[in-house]
Amino acid sequence: MDNIASKLLAHYDRHARNLPWRAMPGSNAPDPYRVWLSEIMLQQTTVAAVKPYFEKFTARWPDAMALAGADDSELMAAWAGLGYYARARNLLACARKVAADHGGRFPGSEAELLKLPGVGAYTAAAIAAIAFGARAVVVDANVERVVARVFAIGTPLPQGRAEIRAAADRITPDVRAGDFAQAMMDLGATICTVRNPLCSLCPLTEDCRGKTDPAAYPVKPLKKARPAKRGYVWWLQDGDHVWLVRRPGKGLLGGMRALPTSDWVTAEPHYLPPVAGDWTRLNASVSHVFTHFSLTIQIEWLQVERDCMTDQAGEWWPIEGIEAAGLPTLFAKAAKAIREEMPDAARYPADSV
Ligand code: ADE
Repeated sequence: MDNIASKLLAHYDRHARNLPWRAMPGSNAPDPYRVWLSEIMLQQTTVAAVKPYFEKFTARWPDAMALAGADDSELMAAWAGLGYYARARNLLACARKVAADHGGRFPGSEAELLKLPGVGAYTAAAIAAIAFGARAVVVDANVERVVARVFAIGTPLPQGRAEIRAAADRITPDVRAGDFAQAMMDLGATICTVRNPLCSLCPLTEDCRGKTDPAAYPVKPLKKARPAKRGYVWWLQDGDHVWLVRRPGKGLLGGMRALPTSDWVTAEPHYLPPVAGDWTRLNASVSHVFTHFSLTIQIEWLQVERDCMTDQAGEWWPIEGIEAAGLPTLFAKAAKAIREEMPDAARYPADSV
């Protein structure tokens, strides 16, 4: 085995992180369903954020068959707060395909895995290696950083990705490719970190050409500025109920429950509240950062009688139980701001955002 792989695996045997979706080194391969679920949740999301969601999902839906039978809105609500909601829609589509086409068992080859909704090159490789022991080259952002540093790859991203992948391929062993991938991820998460890497603890220090200036790798692309968008959110209240809508299936936060909003634009947003009335604006605005833009919303509230909404799509939701609505973080922040400012209103659980 390559010198680098054997050093890394020896280190992993002693220091692997004990994570709920993981089989510890040397034990049986983990359940592919759990590996798939964890890999989808871990896309763009930290291990710490994923853990409670992973526990909740596996307790409620212990296998692909159970998840395939989940109700769409129940699943979207359970995902609320984890972000990147297209993942949740694909999760359900994938479980249903595995149930319908594969009898509830995940296929083991990268090629077959790639045909599943929401499973891209990285995820297919990770599942094939970790759950099925296949020799697959698994490159996520952590692995990318480790490899770019070890080989001092100076080509800026994204062009540098092909070189990084080729180098990762060269050092991936034929056996224990799943442990190797996870060892690389752990090294990136705990030692070869973005800032202040702990080179003195690294099992690859002797082999690392980038260690004199680790911060220089991988070479980053020039960042585009995130546009700042603005919008309105309307809190329509009838006694102890608030009016919630469901966002359109496609697009940002698609299919999620939400408060009514205007469009979100860099210019002045269209002021079109769900009903005409004497709306009161909160002093505090709320900001939220999405991948491609940041958003600042003005929040307005109005007390009404519920008949005024009979011709509109939406539902009156008990404010006391608003946590169970599964609002995405932006709207949970808005509800919290309402609670803090609106007189005699909206009891929103204070520490849930
Ligand atoms: N990030 C993505 N997949 C992971 C895994 N299997 N272990 C640790 N971190 C990860």
